[in-house]
Amino acid sequence: MYGTGRIIPALAIFLGFMTFAVWYNAGQAQQPPKPEKPKDYKECVAPTEYMRTSHMVLLNEWRDDILRNGGPRTGVTANGTSYTRSLQNGCMNCHNDKKKFCDTCHTYAAVKPYCWDCHLEPMKEAM
Ligand code: HEC
Ligand code: HEC
Ligand code: HEC
Repeated sequence: MYGTGRIIPALAIFLGFMTFAVWYNAGQAQQPPKPEKPKDYKECVAPTEYMRTSHMVLLNEWRDDILRNGGPRTGVTANGTSYTRSLQNGCMNCHNDKKKFCDTCHTYAAVKPYCWDCHLEPMKEAM
């Protein structure tokens, strides 16, 4: 005799295992990154929307302008906050937690900027 009383629970457990991976991953992998914004500042060096999509372009522009054209090393935000046009002394001065800011997005997008081979991360990261 085949007892249906044993097949049904076994089937339920089997289905549970099969679907577990699906809904478990659905909850995790789809979380959009939430980069932690600087607490001491209200605005970035350019409009947020532009920064979100084009900060890498801006960084290259700064570097080329400073190193090739002898451009200025300081800049001013729309509301008059002055900043250093520098990766390590500018961006990272305001965004001083690389892990909670830059890395949140970069890990999500699977990009690994090689900049840190030479430029220093904020000190507390290194310790
Ligand atoms: C091989 C080493 C190296 C790598 C890798 C590198 N840089 Fe640089 N970078 C330098 C040096 C050296 C300077 C000149 C420093 C100076 O004169 O202030 C510089 C200057 C700059 C400057 C202008 C001044 C400053 O202090 O920031 C920017 C902006 C910059 N780099 C951005 C980047 C970005 C963005 C990346 C990654 C995409 C990167 N660099 C990767 C070596 C490097
Ligand atoms: C004067 C301080 C300051 C400097 C310098 C600065 N930022 Fe920002 N940045 C901010 C603030 C504050 C915000 C959040 C603005 C907002 O809430 O709209 C921000 C927003 C951003 C965002 C968008 C974040 C998001 O949630 O979508 C990116 C990306 C970014 N910054 C990258 C950079 C990079 C790269 C540099 C250097 C080229 C830089 N920032 C320099 C203060 C700064
Ligand atoms: C809102 C999400 C977000 C934040 C915050 C962010 N980035 Fe990015 N970054 C990206 C994405 C997405 C790319 C890849 C874009 C592409 O490939 O077109 C990228 C690419 C880059 C690149 C070019 C790397 C390459 O290999 O092409 C540099 C340099 C860079 N980011 C620097 C920074 C720095 C420095 C910070 C922190 C101050 C930062 N980013 C914060 C999303 C972000």
